[in-house]
Amino acid sequence: MGAFEGVTLGDRLRAHFGHDRHLYGALTLAMANDWDAGGVTRSILAGWEDAPGQSLPQLRLLAGLFRILLRGEAPELAAFYPCLGGARDHRDAWPVARAVMAAYSDELRAALRETPQTNEVGRALALLVGLSYAVRASGLRRVRLLEPGASGGLTMLVDRIRFEGSGWAWGPVGSPLVLSGCGAPGLVPEAFEVVARRGCDLNPVDASTPEGAAYLTSFVWPWHLDRHDRLRAALRLAAEHPVRIDAAPASTWVREQLEQPAPEGVLTVVWHSVTRIYWPPVETEAMTAAVDEARSRMPIAHVAMEHPWDGSTPDADAGALPVIEVDGVRVGHCGHHGPPVVLDGGLPR
Ligand SMILES: C[S@@+](CC[C@H](N)C(=O)[O-])C[C@H]1O[C@@H](n2cnc3c(N)ncnc32)[C@H](O)[C@@H]1O
Repeated sequence: MGAFEGVTLGDRLRAHFGHDRHLYGALTLAMANDWDAGGVTRSILAGWEDAPGQSLPQLRLLAGLFRILLRGEAPELAAFYPCLGGARDHRDAWPVARAVMAAYSDELRAALRETPQTNEVGRALALLVGLSYAVRASGLRRVRLLEPGASGGLTMLVDRIRFEGSGWAWGPVGSPLVLSGCGAPGLVPEAFEVVARRGCDLNPVDASTPEGAAYLTSFVWPWHLDRHDRLRAALRLAAEHPVRIDAAPASTWVREQLEQPAPEGVLTVVWHSVTRIYWPPVETEAMTAAVDEARSRMPIAHVAMEHPWDGSTPDADAGALPVIEVDGVRVGHCGHHGPPVVLDGGLPR
């Protein structure tokens, strides 16, 4: 029996949620028992017994299962997935899931190689807030967006999203994606035009393809209906307006991009969200230095929605609410998935 620091993979499956109050809780508890009993879970996860805890094979397995359903296969299991219209009691899902796992075990074994990743389009709200400060401070309304750690680049579709806050609204009326509950009473977002947008990621996703769309969808909990609605709308936008995401680490990519000057009168905005906690400290230092060095060559702003960082520990406090910063100055905070925003020091001036 494989073990990880004295804890079996079955134990890790059992502990991940530790309850059966939702579908994945019920499934991981049942998978844990099945692993202990040497069932299909044990055969699919063979070789992962000593995988590092943060590799989360249990989430890779659940996402692989979800992707089968997203193709329209195994409708008997989709009947337990609320985002797919399912309404069956999740406590009855295991026998159905076990049969699907047995039928698709080769595919599920391969799915374990896919790194868990989400791209939360609601975080575009923090970009809108940061852009409003930066545009107002620079007087420039034409913007080149550069996003390290972009995943599928969905937040860079900021100008195609309709935002509804407390007493304000912004963005194209009729957009398929409306972010409501944005908060920030009194905010008057600035007008701007995005003239270029490009991102990078260690593991980029092409959100404009069906495969990329299924990949991003498969890591969102199936009962989080609002997140699925938003993601579906964002993926429609991405299919119409693809954003290029290069495979590269943050700091070298940002430095390379900033070697290319933006057209006259264009504000370059380096933006990132919930990625810095995964960067080694040298990555953060090198990227910040690349932005600061570019300041003498071009109008540039650095907008971030990140967990507070103490300069040394990458994952300083992943539980704390993310902070919105413009050029290193905190302007407010927001929810983990974006809305609502609370501004600290009043409105952009
Ligand atoms: C939690 S996701 C956030 C994605 C997106 N920014 C968002 O807010 O939805 C973190 C992303 O950072 C990427 N990442 C981690 N370390 C990185 C690095 N050193 N350089 C570039 N991307 C990195 C991961 O691959 C992942 O896509």
